[in-house]
Amino acid sequence: MGQKPLSDEQYRSAFDVLVQGSKMSYRDFIIPQLSQLLRPLVDAQSSISVLEVGPGPSSIFGHLPDRLRRKIGRYAAFQPNSLFANETYDIVLFCHSMYGMKSKRRVMEHALRMVKNRPQKGLVVVFHRSGSLHFEDPVCHKMAFFGNGVVRVVDDNQDTDVGNPIPADWRQVCRTLGRRGEAYSNHLLFSAPEAMVVLTHDATSLPELTTQVPLADSGTTIKNWMARS
Ligand SMILES: C[S@@+](CC[C@H](N)C(=O)[O-])C[C@H]1O[C@@H](n2cnc3c(N)ncnc32)[C@H](O)[C@@H]1O
Repeated sequence: MGQKPLSDEQYRSAFDVLVQGSKMSYRDFIIPQLSQLLRPLVDAQSSISVLEVGPGPSSIFGHLPDRLRRKIGRYAAFQPNSLFANETYDIVLFCHSMYGMKSKRRVMEHALRMVKNRPQKGLVVVFHRSGSLHFEDPVCHKMAFFGNGVVRVVDDNQDTDVGNPIPADWRQVCRTLGRRGEAYSNHLLFSAPEAMVVLTHDATSLPELTTQVPLADSGTTIKNWMARS
């Protein structure tokens, strides 16, 4: 299959399918994890500031519990290629918005310069379908995985309302790659595990730290998987 960029209409339509089909990941992973990260910040401050990169048509912060939402005193959003602000924030969020960014490491370094270091440590939070997120040098503060994430799509031979009819061989590829759930026999399920990666200003301090504490040699067995990464 050749690769062709999607028109804005096709992008919107595909995005709607993804959002409708992955509600469980937002409900069971993204919103609870984000709420947990925000709690210590909102408990320590009268209000917090957030920057959301690539929110799409609606902000993820709108789905947080009332108590947390009410504490957001300053909110800014950036859509493609506008990440040039000078302000700093308590939270910079990339929720499924890093896929098209060529140098994820450069974007991350930029984002780290945009989070506050005091009085509370600001957080850069990335939600990403796991498997392809490597920042190289910056060190994570926290990671979490949601292995049960799925995207559920109706399989009813209907065409979408934009663009050309869906070719039969595309449907065949989807039916080969997807599986059918027992409860939704007219749906195809695609496994879509999610990862959350959280970084703070300290992400770039490893070289400074290793001048004082030498790294363990690679032959040492380390039980904690987070300490291993
Ligand atoms: C898959 S959507 C995710 C939308 C929303 N965050 C969510 O989780 O439902 C990806 C979003 O990232 C935005 N995006 C893509 N490249 C970007 C860039 N270079 N800078 C900022 N936003 C970008 C897109 O415009 C789109 O809104």
